Amino acid sequence: MALNLKDKIEKQLSKDVQKTLKDCSENADLFGFKIYLIGGIVRDLFLEKEIFDIDVTVEGNAIDFCHKLADKKICKILQVQDKLNTAKVVFDKNIEIDFASTRQEFYPRHGHLPVAVRFGCTLQEDVYRRDFTINSLAISLNKNNFGEVIDYVDGIKDLKNKTLKVLHDNSFVEDPSRIIRGLKFAARFNLHRDEHTKLLQEKYQNIQLHKDISWTRIKNEIKQAFSLDNPKVFDMFLTNGIEKIFYANKPDIKGLEIKTLIEKYQPDFPWLVYLGCILDDKEIIDAFCFTRTEKKVFADKDTLLSANLSMLNSNYHIYKFFQKKSIESVLIYYLLTKRKEALIYLEKLSKIRVELNGEDLKNLGITNGKKIGEMLDKILKKKLTGTIVKKADEIKFVKTQIK
Ligand code: CTP
Repeated sequence: MALNLKDKIEKQLSKDVQKTLKDCSENADLFGFKIYLIGGIVRDLFLEKEIFDIDVTVEGNAIDFCHKLADKKICKILQVQDKLNTAKVVFDKNIEIDFASTRQEFYPRHGHLPVAVRFGCTLQEDVYRRDFTINSLAISLNKNNFGEVIDYVDGIKDLKNKTLKVLHDNSFVEDPSRIIRGLKFAARFNLHRDEHTKLLQEKYQNIQLHKDISWTRIKNEIKQAFSLDNPKVFDMFLTNGIEKIFYANKPDIKGLEIKTLIEKYQPDFPWLVYLGCILDDKEIIDAFCFTRTEKKVFADKDTLLSANLSMLNSNYHIYKFFQKKSIESVLIYYLLTKRKEALIYLEKLSKIRVELNGEDLKNLGITNGKKIGEMLDKILKKKLTGTIVKKADEIKFVKTQIK
């Protein structure tokens, strides 16, 4: 008998989401569509993990189905992607669902975005374009078999055995970002890769390496993988040679070392600390299309690594060296060089501030702009020696200097 996950739907999805799915179900029957929960949500329901997105696949045309729902004022269409035949819609209580039409895919060039060749194929045909067996399960939402799991690929068996297995031998060649996805899922759900999947991955990494692939996907997966902030992911990147895929380095650093520093110094983008420890290739950094803030981390890292270290001989010089650099880049610099000055800066020096400002100095009698700048620097130097601490000490110091 087919497995039915109705109980898990009732247990793990909010009443509002359940009501929305019931509405979709009734209307699918009414309009003659077969619809299914698909991919990650089925996996996460089975494993009883937190659910992030609701993906529904429509055997037929998802956009048509969504228009029918919208005409009945059941939902509002937020976005339609004609090229992929998908629609993002919002229901009552702000519940968002992504609807996709079943499709078979054809990859024009390996590793590039697929060109969808056939929409409205059967669910079974749609399933075979996917990455891993555990991500290729569907749950019927139609009334006659609501909650029934449709498993064409033995995904349930793999979920039970905690096995990560690709669906076909070309999976990584078509989309190398799946190698990183695999690692992310392995860490997230404690899975092991089956031997054949391992072989396919090694084969891809040893033979197929080329720079002509979709870097946006790779970056996106790396970001998600490192955002788990799971030290195992970094170690697995290196032991599995994942760094080779994006021409990165293999430094002698352990994930736990990075995680400990992240917890202590709380950078805004922990995933960039992991990535910055391995990524150097300028071409790939460009291809990743980083945001301005993300780019700054790599630029700062380069500046720090190429500087003359003999100047780091006082707190003042250490301060000036790291000042205005992102925390991420200072951490990367430390991890790569083990120069303790980086930690001295983060721990002690970065918190030191001159409390007096230009206006205060004017009131104390220094009127020349250049002199004000010089005096602020002198105060900073003094503060960094630890001999003056409070604002009152700063004022006293300025007065002695003026005399
Ligand atoms: N998929 C795929 N190949 C990819 C990306 C996605 O086959 N490179 C398929 C998988 O079936 C996946 C589904 O598309 O389950 C949705 O992808 P995505 O939302 O990225 O992942 P989820 O599996 O939903 O996992 P997560 O919880 O990390 O979002």
